[in-house]
Amino acid sequence: MKTSASRTATMSTYRSRTRPPERLRFDAANDAPAPSGEIIHSRDGVPLSIRPIHADDVAALQRGFSHLQPEEVRMRFLHTLSELSAPLAQRLCQLDPEQELAFVLASPAGTAEPEIHGVARAYIDPTTDSAEFALIVQRRFTGQGFGSRLLKRVIAACRARGVQEIWGDVLTENHAMLELCDEFGFRRESVFHDASLTRVRLAL
Ligand SMILES: CC(C)(COP(=O)(O)OP(=O)(O)OC[C@H]1O[C@@H](n2cnc3c(N)ncnc32)[C@H](O)[C@@H]1OP(=O)(O)O)[C@@H](O)C(=O)NCCC(=O)NCCS
Repeated sequence: MKTSASRTATMSTYRSRTRPPERLRFDAANDAPAPSGEIIHSRDGVPLSIRPIHADDVAALQRGFSHLQPEEVRMRFLHTLSELSAPLAQRLCQLDPEQELAFVLASPAGTAEPEIHGVARAYIDPTTDSAEFALIVQRRFTGQGFGSRLLKRVIAACRARGVQEIWGDVLTENHAMLELCDEFGFRRESVFHDASLTRVRLAL
């Protein structure tokens, strides 16, 4: 349930433009992953693709990180992070295929200076068959359904691997992310001894 208070609290921060109708972002047609290599366009005409992350995305990921506001970084990482070092960027791009998956909103193949504009990732814990996820979309591209599309890809990939539950810790002040999770049917839970965090869980 969306409250007008929570919406106005974050709208000016993260939502850049009028949002597309819900049916265009949550209907069954949009559930299907875009065919490999398909180009989609942002509302301001920027060509983009949604695809799995590649090991050679390191520079593009660092370029994208450099365009994030400190507040966006804090919402994503739950703490401040002033730069994305090369070792950390490499770590985020070179996935352990058994336990990690990530999809990016990126410049199309062949772009001279490619940039990663959004990332959704999950870490699978094989002992519990659950996966922790995280998501970010650069502010320039928020409010256009890209966060939902990335999260859908992660959920579908986790489900295909037999993951039973996907979960994440979200800052309680992060109404945009909590409302996005509501749309997907996540349950909200409090985190023991930490009111600043809300745990969201979705049974797959
Ligand atoms: C949260 C975030 C990922 C949303 O990405 P996005 O591309 O704007 O998401 P979408 O356009 O797909 O929006 C889907 C739904 O999310 C919710 N939402 C998104 N932005 C919102 C906002 N500013 N206020 C309220 N709800 C919002 C809504 O439920 C929306 O559906 P609606 O349009 O029917 O209301 C993006 O704002 C972001 O990256 N924020 C910073 C990092 C972060 O908070 N990461 C989460 C840590 S796990």
